[in-house]
Amino acid sequence: MQVATTILQARALFDVLPRPLGFVPTMGALHEGHLALVRRAREESTTVGASIFINPLQFGANEDLEKYPRDIEADRAKFSAAGVDVLFLPNQAVMYPPDFSTAVDAGEMGTRFEGAARPTHFRGVTTVVSKLLNIVRPDTLYLGQKDAQQTAVLRRMIRDLDIPTHVTIVPTEREADGLALSSRNVYLSVEERQAAPSLHHALQALRMAMQMGKSKADAVAAARTRLDPLAQLDYLDVVDANTFAPIDVLSPPAFVIGAARFGSTRLLDNLWIE
Ligand code: PAJ
Repeated sequence: MQVATTILQARALFDVLPRPLGFVPTMGALHEGHLALVRRAREESTTVGASIFINPLQFGANEDLEKYPRDIEADRAKFSAAGVDVLFLPNQAVMYPPDFSTAVDAGEMGTRFEGAARPTHFRGVTTVVSKLLNIVRPDTLYLGQKDAQQTAVLRRMIRDLDIPTHVTIVPTEREADGLALSSRNVYLSVEERQAAPSLHHALQALRMAMQMGKSKADAVAAARTRLDPLAQLDYLDVVDANTFAPIDVLSPPAFVIGAARFGSTRLLDNLWIE
């Protein structure tokens, strides 16, 4: 695996890779969810690129930027073993020099749900992913369904800005008890870790109730009863998969989505409805 830390180095390495080139952007602290994206890219592409960059623009002022888990040496070994050809590992000054001033606005879709809880989050995501796509110029971008709203926002950005990259969404990797893998799961206490799969169970109940034709109010009420008392619910809802607008009557493709806090750790999950 070759590693580039500057944009010039990255361009020199990525531009000569045999095509098609698949690309997996991450913020590191790699787990099996990230590696599932690499495996899918490996299956479908001739070469695979990845990046690790903890993007300050997508963290709010009171969020976990400083304590976001970091383990670069382990991450490099994992990406290398998974078959990444080129890793882009920029620092903040490389991505955001002092006079950096342009941003990509995520539009209305970026104001709902995660965007309501974290007002500058999606603008940070769209800005950094635009930069990464311009640096790497991949044929296919691999994203995890785990961050469903992020996939919808980025698909829309790529379409709206005519970026010549295909997007592939990879299903969520889970622990045996249903908890979606996340770099933030390491923050959970033993009790919170035991309570955390209840978010997944609530979403399963919500999906089933919607598929049985219950009203959304009844379906959400039934789902809430599955949540562990430790969970502080932020939202449970049913949205159109493409627009992320809430829907009352199921018309697939759709997602049931949820976010809840377990102690100080905020977890997200979703299920896809075809
Ligand atoms: P990060 O949270 O590191 O996630 C990188 C990619 O891994 C994302 O596409 C995410 O959806 C996917 N992923 C995370 N957990 C997963 C799981 N359990 N199963 C499958 N895929 C999973 O998402 C980001 O970083 C950033 O916002 C980024 C896109 C890199 C822009 O900074």
